[in-house]
Amino acid sequence: MRPIASLLVTAFVLASPLTTTNLLAQTPAPAKPSAAQAPKVKAAVPQVPQVAMTPPMGWNSWNYFADKVDDKGIRAAADQMVATGMKDAGYNYVNIDDTWEGERDASGVLHTNAKFPDMKALADYVHSKGLKIGIYSSPGPKTCGGYAGSYGHELQDAQLYASWGIDYLKYDLCSFIGDVMQKQAPNDPAAQMRIMQDGYEKMHQALKSTGRPIVYSYCTYGWDAVWEWGPKNGANLWRTTGDITPDWDRMYAILSQQSGLEKYAGPGHWNDPDMLEVGNGKLSLSENRVHFSMWAMLAAPLLAGNDLPNMKPEIKAILTNRDVIAIDQDKLGRQAAHVYSDGEVEVWARPLAGGAMAVAVVNVGSDRYTTHPFHLNLAKLGLTGPQKGKDLWTGKDVELTNGEALALPSHDILLVRIDAPKK
Ligand code: GAL
Repeated sequence: MRPIASLLVTAFVLASPLTTTNLLAQTPAPAKPSAAQAPKVKAAVPQVPQVAMTPPMGWNSWNYFADKVDDKGIRAAADQMVATGMKDAGYNYVNIDDTWEGERDASGVLHTNAKFPDMKALADYVHSKGLKIGIYSSPGPKTCGGYAGSYGHELQDAQLYASWGIDYLKYDLCSFIGDVMQKQAPNDPAAQMRIMQDGYEKMHQALKSTGRPIVYSYCTYGWDAVWEWGPKNGANLWRTTGDITPDWDRMYAILSQQSGLEKYAGPGHWNDPDMLEVGNGKLSLSENRVHFSMWAMLAAPLLAGNDLPNMKPEIKAILTNRDVIAIDQDKLGRQAAHVYSDGEVEVWARPLAGGAMAVAVVNVGSDRYTTHPFHLNLAKLGLTGPQKGKDLWTGKDVELTNGEALALPSHDILLVRIDAPKK
């Protein structure tokens, strides 16, 4: 059983989509002034525009370039986002992951390392393309790559990011675990979790105080049910698992772990099953399709992580499939649920704005004989009678009927949008 406190947090999160108004309402109320002291006119509270009202889309350097990222690579990624049509399809963040950090000077100001000679100029360049720029740090003294983290310098770093024009921060737990949580509260996991939450809240407040709209991305690998406490500590998205790798088994393991988390996602606050590996590693074309489709079904951030200057046309076609992107970016912001499984075939569905619906049927079996006929059970999806829809990978109109026999190859997907589902 979950403790009452955590249930209350859940109830709060569910009942409170993160608007600027209720974000402010979550800040502890200051002591009431006496009637004599009470100001006649309310002081203006700085309003930071809302961010991530649909899942963030963009590109991040880590999955393909890792520590090879540099100024030139980021400029090339920005150029390619425009040239390939990704920007037109909705991708707008170009995010620098770990390994950009240099040393702090005597006043504690962090400098970039030699790979990034002028971060402000780089941000200006990315902005000049009509794109936004993201950066990476850790609440600990060191990042996962062993570079300088923000511990003890949260406000200074937030101000630095704002001065450069940064629009997105990925904040990765890393050394905070060993150097802070375990040191400050040895053998006390509950206290360690409180310290972790405080560490993230500290940067939340620091970012807020800059007045700049900055997407705040938690990288806490799902620790301590981050979906319950992250949103009230300013998280616009939070990693739900450890790292993704570009192979079916890891991608599918992460997909499976998202089932049940759908109630925590909504405009301004999203589950993050990690960045895309589309076009990377060992994923076949159909596996790339499944990965992209299911991240869209999950209302996940769509952060490509491939080598954009050398992207193959078939990978570009996947990443820029506007019908699939529209599922991810649907204004209702409702994440798909795993509705049922029939052997190795899984059926997921999500409601869409205007009463529409998206249905994904995935053959997750790895055996070459698993192209077994499977019959669709529309009743389990709450649907009655034949349903007219669009197959989002062939672009063709389809009609789904109850009991219909489908034969999907192993690791392939049928993704259908039904605009007017008959219930
Ligand atoms: C990991 C994180 C990765 C990447 C890496 C950088 O902790 O999950 O996405 O950011 O650190 O060192």
